[in-house]
Amino acid sequence: MTKCLYIETVGCQMNLLDSELVVASLRHRGYKLVDRAIKADVILFNTCSVREHAEEKIYSALGRLKYIKRQNPQKIIGVLGCMAQNHQNNVFQRAPYVDLVVGPGQLHQIPDLLDEVSKGPPQRLEVSLDRKGFAKTEIEQSFETYDPLRTPEMRSSPHQAFVRIQIGCDKFCTYCIVPKVRGPEQCRSPQAILAEARQLASEGCREITLLGQTVNSYRYQRGATTTRLSDLLLHLSDIDGIERLKFVTSHPCDMTDDLLQVVGSLRKCSHYLHIPAQSGSNDILKRMKRGYTVEQYREMLSRIRQYIPDATITSDFIVGYSGETEADFVLTKELVEECRFKNSFIFKYSERPGTKGALHHVDDVSEPVKKQRNNELLDIQNTISYEDNQLRIGRQYEVLVEGPSKNADKHNLPGSLVQLTGRTMWDHIVVFEGDRRLIGQILPVTIYEANAFTLFGEVKTEHVGPEVYQLSS
Ligand code: 5AD
Ligand code: SF4
Repeated sequence: MTKCLYIETVGCQMNLLDSELVVASLRHRGYKLVDRAIKADVILFNTCSVREHAEEKIYSALGRLKYIKRQNPQKIIGVLGCMAQNHQNNVFQRAPYVDLVVGPGQLHQIPDLLDEVSKGPPQRLEVSLDRKGFAKTEIEQSFETYDPLRTPEMRSSPHQAFVRIQIGCDKFCTYCIVPKVRGPEQCRSPQAILAEARQLASEGCREITLLGQTVNSYRYQRGATTTRLSDLLLHLSDIDGIERLKFVTSHPCDMTDDLLQVVGSLRKCSHYLHIPAQSGSNDILKRMKRGYTVEQYREMLSRIRQYIPDATITSDFIVGYSGETEADFVLTKELVEECRFKNSFIFKYSERPGTKGALHHVDDVSEPVKKQRNNELLDIQNTISYEDNQLRIGRQYEVLVEGPSKNADKHNLPGSLVQLTGRTMWDHIVVFEGDRRLIGQILPVTIYEANAFTLFGEVKTEHVGPEVYQLSS
């Protein structure tokens, strides 16, 4: 009998990819995906540990399943990913009815683990080794990935895919739990990455986003040959069918000239970079152990402008890190005003047990102050994003059409017209009306309206020939 699977995913792109792979492996075993936990035989949560709030939300969701599990003891509940690695047996203590706890390095075992727990107790905990107390290679081996097991129908869009090129992180920023839960930095071989990209291209994929925690530190050494991210981009851009290449997330210290030169010169490379600054104060950057000063971050931005004059850059900021004074925060605001990021993701500091920050620095900025700083910075960024987007009105962009927009259902359009969404080469979201059959195509859209987050446009069908896109299937 077909088993039904429900999976909920929170967190970063890495988690979205992990869930895609888990679903793919379970589809191979005959599972069918359903859209509500109540209808499922197996309920999985792929979790995030970056902030406490994300973990607490999972415990609340688990709490809501307690009654369902009591009524249907044969249902299997699993906690996967970063929180599984972070909390391990504590998950069973807080939610004793959970059957499975599986870290990000053991996800390939899920089909077998489900078979085992479906036969009855005991519960199963499968996680990687702690980063202390074991040999480096042993720790590395305990964090495994199983990327090749993907199938196109698992992706949210058949025309776009994430490809993991690196797992883990060795930077150990003091606030961050990622090096603990995702393990040591390990880079995948260029051969495996290129084979996967060719496979994706043959399945109709047009855009690939390379994933890594510090993706631009990618390096793979075999004998005398070293492959860097710039080399990888050159090889990937030779693949027919792949039209766009992106990579996230970059670290400011690894933004080398060879990479910028390649991004600036390759037709297929998106001119979009995500390079978190985290703070505009040197004192705070030092406490965070980010490894650069504000002056070095600025210098990096000016090198980017040299190689890629039209680059759009997004950043992350943490407000209210331990010891952050009003003067430190003013410096952060000044940096945001000066850099004119396309967008900034702003987070209130959340102390994470097990990090250097939790051990050595007191979480001494009050919640109301964190909130106030968060809102202030967001206001500054939103004004910049709005002004920047206004300048795009009247311009025409090549847009890769991703699918119906979030509000497509609310717009009752005639015939097969639908409100669509897509992205420019600079990662702007563009919403416009068009035929569903345009999904997956790259076509010119002229912008007539904009807010801080979205550009609204119109497809100029009369100006393009059938070689650019075809309206008929
Ligand atoms: N508290 C708040 N934000 C955090 N981030 C990472 N760790 C924490 C934390 N403990 C933010 C950083 C990072 C983004 C993914 O999440 O800005 O770039
Ligand atoms: Fe976390 Fe710093 Fe690594 Fe990014 S670079 S994943 S913030 S430790």
